[in-house]
Amino acid sequence: MAQQSTLNKNLPVAIFASGNGTNFEAIAKADLPIDIKLLICDHHDAYVLTRAAKFGVPALIVEAKKGITKQQRESIMLTHLRAAGVQAIFLAGYMRIIGPTLLDAYPKKIINIHPALLPNFPGLHGIEDAYAAEVPETGVTIHYIDSGVDTGQIIAQQAVVRKPDDSIDDLATRIHDVEHQLYPNTILDLIKKGVL
Ligand code: GAR
Repeated sequence: MAQQSTLNKNLPVAIFASGNGTNFEAIAKADLPIDIKLLICDHHDAYVLTRAAKFGVPALIVEAKKGITKQQRESIMLTHLRAAGVQAIFLAGYMRIIGPTLLDAYPKKIINIHPALLPNFPGLHGIEDAYAAEVPETGVTIHYIDSGVDTGQIIAQQAVVRKPDDSIDDLATRIHDVEHQLYPNTILDLIKKGVL
């Protein structure tokens, strides 16, 4: 992996996450030419908030509640993203569809990680669905976000073989290990190519 010093400025980014935040932490720990300006989270009790505090990353919690529309929630997010000068967004276990407010503001600048080889097993349960289907191989996909569910243009994929005696936890552990390498490596690649 190239050292940060070979690239001359840090890209201001935001990470969106809903839950545990292991991918948030993998990105935060990697030697990347980025400055994580903001974590946006849709659950006030998500463990990713603890991880963000550990790394000194400010967090904005925007929960889906009755009486506030997705458009209104995304407008709040956009105000904070713009105030922080954010130029790219990495979704790391963010379990909501991104709407036109953010898509229009960040065209081809919102990236997602998914724990399966898209277009196979999109949605909320990529690991469980691939395990139940007994496919010999699943994996990890990094892709651009569009208005669909895990349908955007694929940037990178890495396969993970299912071993005959794998429990779902065994398979999930190997998928997460791949995620924690592939996401930072792909981000670095995109920055080096000048597409982010
Ligand atoms: C990851 O496995 C990520 O690929 C998945 O959520 C998990 C979050 O884990 N995302 C999706 O399923 C998106 N459709 P983390 O909170 O420990 O990073």
